[in-house]
Amino acid sequence: MKNRIFAIAVLFVGVFALLAFTVPQEKKKGGPWEIPAEYKSMENPYKGDASLDKYGKQLYSKHCRSCHGNEGKGDGPKARNLDTDPGDFSDAAWQESVSEGELYFMSIIGRDDMPNYESKIVDDEERWAVINYVRSLKQ
Ligand code: HEC
Repeated sequence: MKNRIFAIAVLFVGVFALLAFTVPQEKKKGGPWEIPAEYKSMENPYKGDASLDKYGKQLYSKHCRSCHGNEGKGDGPKARNLDTDPGDFSDAAWQESVSEGELYFMSIIGRDDMPNYESKIVDDEERWAVINYVRSLKQ
């Protein structure tokens, strides 16, 4: 008898675990970012600098792809564990709505589920290289 109850309990736990993993969960939208004025007005000194392209791609693969996905659609393998929707970098309307400085703040400073990269991507050239790469994902 005890064994049977145990078996049923195990079955229930198994079914719930399976559901939790397979049913995609609705993610909350992060909503508008509050970006300090000193970031908003920042200029990108490396805009259009193709010599940074390779570099930007490498940095993106290392630091960003796990959540944002290969094409920036927010479908990287780690995205399923996030509470917040990481957005879609391929969305042209979104790309046009954000300035270089805003992109810098979101990418390097972050908030909540979006990590801070100030100590991982230290060099200014590297920071703009990854931002240029995010720009290149626009479709
Ligand atoms: C651990 C997962 C994770 C990693 C790794 C990550 N991000 Fe994010 N990112 C997020 C999430 C979640 C959000 C949405 C946060 C919010 O809106 O509050 C986000 C938001 C953003 C946004 C704003 C998108 C929008 O639609 O408003 C940009 C830009 C961004 N990330 C760039 C980057 C860059 C560049 C890297 C790598 C240097 C990176 N992210 C690495 C999870 C991640």
